[in-house]
Amino acid sequence: MTAPVYLDCDTGIDDALALAYLLASPLASVVGIGTVSGNVSAAVGARNTLDLLALAGAADIPVALGAHDPLAASFHGGAPWVHGENGVGEVELPASGAALAGESAAEMLVRLARTYPGALRVLAIGPLTNIAEALELDPALPSLVESVTVMGGAALAPGNITPAAEANIWHDPEAAALVLAADWDVTLVPLDVTMASVLEESHRQDLLASPGPVPRALGEMLGYYFRFYEGIYGRPCSAMHDPLAAALAVGAVKPALAPVVRAVVDTSSGPGRGQTVCDMRGLYAGYPEVKGARCRVVLSLEEDFAPHLVETVLEYFEGTTAELASAGSAA
Ligand code: BDR
Ligand code: CA
Repeated sequence: MTAPVYLDCDTGIDDALALAYLLASPLASVVGIGTVSGNVSAAVGARNTLDLLALAGAADIPVALGAHDPLAASFHGGAPWVHGENGVGEVELPASGAALAGESAAEMLVRLARTYPGALRVLAIGPLTNIAEALELDPALPSLVESVTVMGGAALAPGNITPAAEANIWHDPEAAALVLAADWDVTLVPLDVTMASVLEESHRQDLLASPGPVPRALGEMLGYYFRFYEGIYGRPCSAMHDPLAAALAVGAVKPALAPVVRAVVDTSSGPGRGQTVCDMRGLYAGYPEVKGARCRVVLSLEEDFAPHLVETVLEYFEGTTAELASAGSAA
């Protein structure tokens, strides 16, 4: 079964991996993409997304520009030390000639939710500004979508941008608070599981050795990303935040442990700002059911994710490259 997916992203190296994975997955059909400021500005993220789609032969997927600023502040300028100045590890992607959609990301999400009632999977892998704006635009949104998966937060693990906060949530805590408080069930894919899912140098070499331009571009970008993560893990490798959220959103990988708990976001101006305060007190009793709890927090996986990610991307893009080559030689 192929599920329609709305992707909200701040493209970003691991966002690029998530996008490639979704294009390659037989379980997903990406029906629209919105961008938001986070790793880079929403405008740069949109440009990266258009360029990646063109490289992947998927320029027909519409891309909508989303919020430049978070709900209660101004865009802080991105994370060039993690993703590079251009967001894709200083890799120069061929420029796409495609134009942006004539609607905002929030408008696109609302439209798609009504086009695919009860079927649309919302996958947010950047700050949650667009999703909060869509909730405001159409309060019926929660009843229209199939699921909401968010890469963000930290339940029992430390934060990554502050001791308490994960970057996506910290960039717009007010939006995240609204999204977690809305009338829907949210699957949170926090640092607890994404930092434990690691892509190694051997995986990067496999991507670089591919004849496909998409896997090769991803391999090059990951060189930049690995240098940042070397300071954290002590070896060249990286966490897999966004692609893991993508695989969970389409049901390609299964959580081993994912308790459903109450979760709120700290919107104070103190040191906890941006923290996802998840009620994990059920830990010692095997997480008994909590009445009224609506946030499914993925803590661990049944299987290692990296081999599945790399195989899916390589197989699909090697196939499309061969198809393009034979179409070219037949012409
Ligand atoms: C998240 O923040 C961004 O840097 C990544 O793209 C990911 O979505 C990880 O904290
Ligand atoms: Ca991201």
